[in-house]
Amino acid sequence: MYSHIQVRPLSGALGAEVFGASLAGEMPQATIAEIKRAFNEYQVIFFRDQEASDHDLARFARHFGDLAVLPPHRQHPGQFPELLVIDKKPDTGLVFGWEWHSDTTHLEVPPLGSVLAARQLPPVGGDTMFANQYMAYDTLSDAMKAMLDGVKAVHSNSRILASLEVDDVLAPGQGLGNKDGTMSAVHPVVRTHPDTGRKALFVNKMHTERFEGMTLAESQPLLNYLYEHSTRPEFTCRFRWEPGSIAFWDNRCCQHLALDDYPGQRRLMHRVQIRGTRPV
Ligand code: SIN
Repeated sequence: MYSHIQVRPLSGALGAEVFGASLAGEMPQATIAEIKRAFNEYQVIFFRDQEASDHDLARFARHFGDLAVLPPHRQHPGQFPELLVIDKKPDTGLVFGWEWHSDTTHLEVPPLGSVLAARQLPPVGGDTMFANQYMAYDTLSDAMKAMLDGVKAVHSNSRILASLEVDDVLAPGQGLGNKDGTMSAVHPVVRTHPDTGRKALFVNKMHTERFEGMTLAESQPLLNYLYEHSTRPEFTCRFRWEPGSIAFWDNRCCQHLALDDYPGQRRLMHRVQIRGTRPV
């Protein structure tokens, strides 16, 4: 199947480790083509033992599209604007990405995907989980699929902005939103992946507020069911970080969750995002 890289699946649901490719420096086109295939096949891919700088991450990500600057995130002096620094310090109360989500779906055009590199890890803990949203859609009943067909949902960043403890990452009030930094967007509840043509469930607990045209109270029971269903253990994989690990996930067809299980320790990650297309 693959002749330029080796691919080792991580679970029966999604995720694969990719060997035989170095993200530091230029990559042969044939290797990039196979990485793109593995990305579409497994939704999230992982690299081990990499010595990739932040600029290497950016160069790798650009093989998949332009980089996206996420407006509500704090910029760090001396770093390029597309770099997101996720720094959970020993005294930070809440980890960034603490519940299941797709990245920044409060934007009209959420990212295609993100490349995340470990820079400093706790001795144990701090794994990241991923959930396959094609599977989440495919396993709904035909009646539920028909009911959700054409339904849209309102997504916002208000829950994140309310979490002051992730203040190290977010810069409330900065960017394109309202005065208080709140932004919202409306997306289809089921989206079709532009490359694979497959349908994926596209709601997440961190950002989705309600169905368009419905109240919060009317929306909540079904949304709660969809959150629970979309992250069933059999749809997931769990990635254990090591120094030099890099993850690259497809934001259009998987959700993820950063486990908050290393109190009193520091975990420092660097991330770049690739610009996506409007969900349809
Ligand atoms: C995120 O992008 O949500 C953070 C993931 C992580 O730090 O593991």
